[in-house]
Amino acid sequence: MTDTTDSLTTPSDITAGVIASYDGCPDPRLRELMRALVKHLHAFATEVGLTEDEWAAMIGELTATGHITDDRRQEFILWSDSLGLSMLVDALANPLPAGATESTVLGPFYVPGSPAREYGESMAAEPAGVPAWVHGRVLSVDGAPIAGAELDVWQNGDDRLYAVQRPEAPEDHLRGRYTTREDGSYAFLAVRPVPYPIPYDGPVGKMLDSTGRHPWRPAHIHMIVRAPGYRSVTTHIFDRDSEYLDSDAVFAVKPSLMREFVTHSPGDPDTPAGVESEWVSCENDIVLAPGDDAREIVDPGRTG
Ligand code: BEZ
Ligand code: FE
Repeated sequence: MTDTTDSLTTPSDITAGVIASYDGCPDPRLRELMRALVKHLHAFATEVGLTEDEWAAMIGELTATGHITDDRRQEFILWSDSLGLSMLVDALANPLPAGATESTVLGPFYVPGSPAREYGESMAAEPAGVPAWVHGRVLSVDGAPIAGAELDVWQNGDDRLYAVQRPEAPEDHLRGRYTTREDGSYAFLAVRPVPYPIPYDGPVGKMLDSTGRHPWRPAHIHMIVRAPGYRSVTTHIFDRDSEYLDSDAVFAVKPSLMREFVTHSPGDPDTPAGVESEWVSCENDIVLAPGDDAREIVDPGRTG
């Protein structure tokens, strides 16, 4: 007599049986995704000889991840970021022509709907650090200036926090949308960014701590640059002199995105209006690849 349960008793039989359960999936892409997910999940458990206690601990961390996640905090994305998955997906999705500005992680602090601001306007609603004059041009890969491109910019202040992490902060603090002029030029008054830790008071922080990893990100300013007829790019300006460039907690540093922040005294004739202290400047051209990218940002929630 054939005992049909025999066929699902060895590890490889179990894996094969679960993979085969998707044979009837009508959506070919979903079928491919689910089969590969099972294959690699099972291979992981088999390779490490996952114990029942470790399995239970993993379920506990996933449960805690769900509990800490809400419309201001997105711990699942933080897992993706801290395990390098976000950057891997970005690399797979965004092959670019030579010379185009590289993309990097969006992060959890992007809030759509920043106010439109004038050329050179400050993004700081309150003092937030050393003033930083950020300027440059938005260009196509053949060097032509792109007029009317939008730069959607956000950053943290010298308290290390984004406005969205501080309920008492003015809503539009340290964020704004700028539009390039006829010659493709743009400028805005930011503050010099400082390194900051990704939120580490939840399951991801526990993982970082227990594995000897740190939560710090090097100093950066975020921007999404969009223009009709071009692929939009989600990117950063990294301060070339920052700590943690070689150990970013979310693996998002690309050498092509590092820029120099040059220090100026308040007596410098180029001092931006309203600045009375030492300030820095940063020149940063953006090069957009051709294409039509009307995609909106996928925003499953954010971390606060
Ligand atoms: C950020 O740069 O805002 C960020 C990116 C990934 C995780 C946490 C923060
Ligand atoms: Fe950031």
